[in-house]
Amino acid sequence: MSLINEINKRRTFGIVSHPDAGKTTLTEKLLLFGGAIQVAGAVKSNKIKKHATSDFMEIERQRGISVATSVMAFPYRDLQINILDTPGHKDFAEDTYRTLTAVDSVIVVIDVAKGVEEQTEKLVEVCRMRHTPIIVFINKLDREGKDAFDLLDEIETRLHLKVTPLSWPIGMGQDFKGVYSLFEKKFIHFMPHGKQDGEEVVKIESIEDQHLGKIAGERLHLQFKSDLETVHGVYPEFNREDYLKGKLCPVFYGSAVNNFGVRELLDCFVEIAPTPLSRDAEERTVLPDEKKMSGFVFKIHANMDPKHRDRIAFFRICSGVFERNTNYHHVRLDREVKFSNPTSFMAARKEVIDEAYAGDVVGLYDNGNFKIGDSLTEGESLHFKGIPRFSPEIFRYVDNADPSKFKQFAKGLEQLMDEGVAQLFVKEESQRKIIGVVGALQFDVIQYRLEHEYGAKCSYEPLQLHKALWVQCNDPKKLEEFKQRRKKDLAYDKDGKMVLLADSAWTLRLVQENFPDVHFNISSEI
Ligand code: G4P
Repeated sequence: MSLINEINKRRTFGIVSHPDAGKTTLTEKLLLFGGAIQVAGAVKSNKIKKHATSDFMEIERQRGISVATSVMAFPYRDLQINILDTPGHKDFAEDTYRTLTAVDSVIVVIDVAKGVEEQTEKLVEVCRMRHTPIIVFINKLDREGKDAFDLLDEIETRLHLKVTPLSWPIGMGQDFKGVYSLFEKKFIHFMPHGKQDGEEVVKIESIEDQHLGKIAGERLHLQFKSDLETVHGVYPEFNREDYLKGKLCPVFYGSAVNNFGVRELLDCFVEIAPTPLSRDAEERTVLPDEKKMSGFVFKIHANMDPKHRDRIAFFRICSGVFERNTNYHHVRLDREVKFSNPTSFMAARKEVIDEAYAGDVVGLYDNGNFKIGDSLTEGESLHFKGIPRFSPEIFRYVDNADPSKFKQFAKGLEQLMDEGVAQLFVKEESQRKIIGVVGALQFDVIQYRLEHEYGAKCSYEPLQLHKALWVQCNDPKKLEEFKQRRKKDLAYDKDGKMVLLADSAWTLRLVQENFPDVHFNISSEI
């Protein structure tokens, strides 16, 4: 098959949600449709359990297992679907952000009762920055929840997305009768205890159809007709161009656990979702159908076995064909590397592959050569853009606790930071090292891994900080003045970029007022 055909077959996306909204359940149902798994529960058993938050070893163990489900590829119709798992656990949020750089579109799952939640807000912000096309799936319609219009308002105001519903619910909770698909103009009857699928498609001539009235009952039928009028009056018609530009976001309603509305979602997704997109590098834009292979590492996963310090680097192919046992140019190290057993991820099993195409993600065994953001090419110097790093939320000073193991401490810390476990800053004045994380658990993980994988010991000292903000200023004089005045609050990240360590939101405001020409960014590109 030609390169272009292979690329056009691929749909690479991520499912994001706040923990508990139903991401795992939805993923599993999609895999069942694709025949990638035979029984429900296969993905779920790999999931990082929320109740284990106090036990980081358990989380690390489960994280080790979940590498198999980090990327799930399955065929559907004549397409190849790649789902990239975006860890939902709060402590792995940074990993999740970076995974979003490797997808071409996302499905956001929202719990009908809870509406838009914090983690969803943060993740959608990253998607918006990148103009990633988004589909929203409002889940758990079998339960009482918020009003369908209120939810759309909430999505518009809190997620700053322009929406258009492509399905509309009739009733909710106890009264839930089904959804009307505006995309396919059909009614899907919710049958929780009836058919295995939880749904039955009912052909209706129009929304006035008597049959619909019978199923929904007079009150809900009337309500539905009036709702639909409002929908047509208020929301724009679906338009694929706008969706692909990330300007319009279609919304579906359903119930993942009942397998209700999932097929409709998938069928619409495969029609509208983008094929592998071009990617911007600092040097130029890379098109997926270019003959020469290129791609970047967006995630690094450590081996859980301390005797083998190898890691798996997740590599997104941006153009061309990736082949086994072929020399590629490692741009940062400026040398050739080749891989004898790159793996693909077919749900829950890993297998060595001979070739993979733009849009695919392959796992590369690595013993310390990769950092997040690294690129491989066939010789060209390309640095892919848009791999974000966000301000951590919790900070501590980190010190070497065993002077005889300083080398191990330095190396361990460096490698863990390359993996993206946390962020390291060095204070300008004191040269002290600071670790910043999104979830406090990572401190324990770092301490444990330094000891068990590198034979080093670290100690922490509390540090009350609000945020680390990357400093940018086009006026060298003003920047110098700022540097002199705030010296004690300055630090440098791993790449030598200057950050302001603001100890409170109040201090940050004050600094912003005093230095209007200096920009303080909550994210930076790797
Ligand atoms: P997550 O990956 O986003 O964290 O969510 P997950 O799929 O694990 O779903 C969270 C809980 O919500 C699960 O229940 C799941 O069964 C339930 N759920 C998912 N979809 C629906 C739905 O459409 N309706 C209803 N009523 N519940 C749904 P749990 O009790 O936490 O786990 P389990 O014991 O069912 O495995």
